[in-house]
Amino acid sequence: MVDFKITVVDLSYIQEGEMEKMNVKVVYHSGRSGNTRKVAEAIAESFHIRAERIGKEKIDFTAPVDLLFVGDGIYFHKPHRKTRAFLQGMNPEIVKNAAAFGTYGNQLEIGALIAALLREQQISIAGEPFTCKGDSPGTDNKGHPDAMDLENARRFAQKVAASLKERGEE
Ligand SMILES: Cc1cc2nc3c(=O)[nH]c(=O)nc-3n(C[C@H](O)[C@H](O)[C@H](O)COP(=O)(O)O)c2cc1C
Repeated sequence: MVDFKITVVDLSYIQEGEMEKMNVKVVYHSGRSGNTRKVAEAIAESFHIRAERIGKEKIDFTAPVDLLFVGDGIYFHKPHRKTRAFLQGMNPEIVKNAAAFGTYGNQLEIGALIAALLREQQISIAGEPFTCKGDSPGTDNKGHPDAMDLENARRFAQKVAASLKERGEE
């Protein structure tokens, strides 16, 4: 009988180390229910950074950002006015790429709406937007974003970052 052991080597740190070379930022707006905040924090934690809240703190854009994640809920069919105003000030010289994420009652196009606002500022969009349900009266979204939504958000974010890195190496 052949006696052998399988050793599982965790190489995830290599990928994380590579990601840290990119300047990644996560900004978001979130209302009282805090749904988008949860998604923003999950994404930011996956890069070991802090999510910054639009309209609540001064967000510094002096250094170029390789990948900016922008998130919001949807309110009366639109991203919040604070997010819209914030995005109008975006500069493609500073923000090299951006990816959108959002939470919704039933209109998952929040991601596409944010991406469209970024495009209006000539910002290059990375990946498809990520959206998930957000707990909201009048919907059956209770408990969302849940653990699976947050895991999907982390995966989305890491995948977008990895795709940019691959593009850079071509
Ligand atoms: C005032 C208000 C208006 C909303 N309007 C919409 C809407 O037009 N379409 C939709 O799908 N969801 C709508 N929602 C649901 C929110 O988009 C959803 O709860 C989202 O997760 C909120 O994110 P937040 O908790 O980060 O603010 C609305 C919620 C509020 C409080």
